[in-house]
Amino acid sequence: MSALLNVRDITVAYGQHSPVLHDVDFSVDRGEVVGLVGMNGAGKSTLLKAISGGLKLRAGAVEFDGADVTKTETPELVRRGLIVLAEGHRVIRPLTVRENLEVAAMSLSPAKVRQRLAEVEDLIHALFPVLTERRKQLAGLLSGGEQQMLSVARAIVQNPKLLLLDEPSLGLAPLVIDRIYESLDAFRDRGVSMLIVEQNSDRVAKACSRLVVLREGRIVAQGSPTELSGAALNSAYFG
Ligand SMILES: Nc1ncnc2c1ncn2[C@@H]1O[C@H](COP(=O)(O)OP(=O)(O)OP(=O)(O)O)[C@@H](O)[C@H]1O
Ligand SMILES: [Mg+2]
Repeated sequence: MSALLNVRDITVAYGQHSPVLHDVDFSVDRGEVVGLVGMNGAGKSTLLKAISGGLKLRAGAVEFDGADVTKTETPELVRRGLIVLAEGHRVIRPLTVRENLEVAAMSLSPAKVRQRLAEVEDLIHALFPVLTERRKQLAGLLSGGEQQMLSVARAIVQNPKLLLLDEPSLGLAPLVIDRIYESLDAFRDRGVSMLIVEQNSDRVAKACSRLVVLREGRIVAQGSPTELSGAALNSAYFG
């Protein structure tokens, strides 16, 4: 079976600057969870942006779910099931929790907002009961952890096939990180593929079956978390 995501030899630059990603080539299989790790500035966020339609490629191609999506724009990728949770807690602060979920459902189909929310209500409540309690509260008034839960809940509404996550544990307390990762396990159990960027390689190693190490815009190692641990991981990270 073909992979769900194929990133084929992509080179990416910001404007006229020199490239920050060079010939990056890897894939994510259906149902697979891949961890993407590397030092600050290695190009991890840039890679997620390039995959999700946020940056033009200088060379190479991206294929998703059997189609070339190199030039496909983000809203269309969302409808096809490629969802990105960008760095930071990306919620719409002046809207309530419920309205944030409605907007996520609208991005799929404006005519089916209520139906979609009804379909995922139980799952969201089981994972994040606090969001049901606070459904009328403005998202901007939630704590950082609650905002991150809301951004994961928005992704649940959008029904991803592939979820790209940029440092989902950043700045959160350990207990909240556990809750976020439990919700990612629930995604995985439903067959959702994931590409998870983390500084915290121990945490992501527990959640993924393969690690990809990026250094200075190039993939320098790939392997299972057991193959890539300790000294092997350190030497890939730092060169
Ligand atoms: N908008 C931009 N314009 C120009 N250069 C950028 C821009 N965003 C990032 N860069 C550069 O691209 C390189 C890779 O940055 P990127 O944010 O992808 O790294 P990262 O691996 O996500 O780092 P971190 O772990 O700190 O989040 C860096 O050298 C950065 O300065
Ligand atoms: Mg980053």
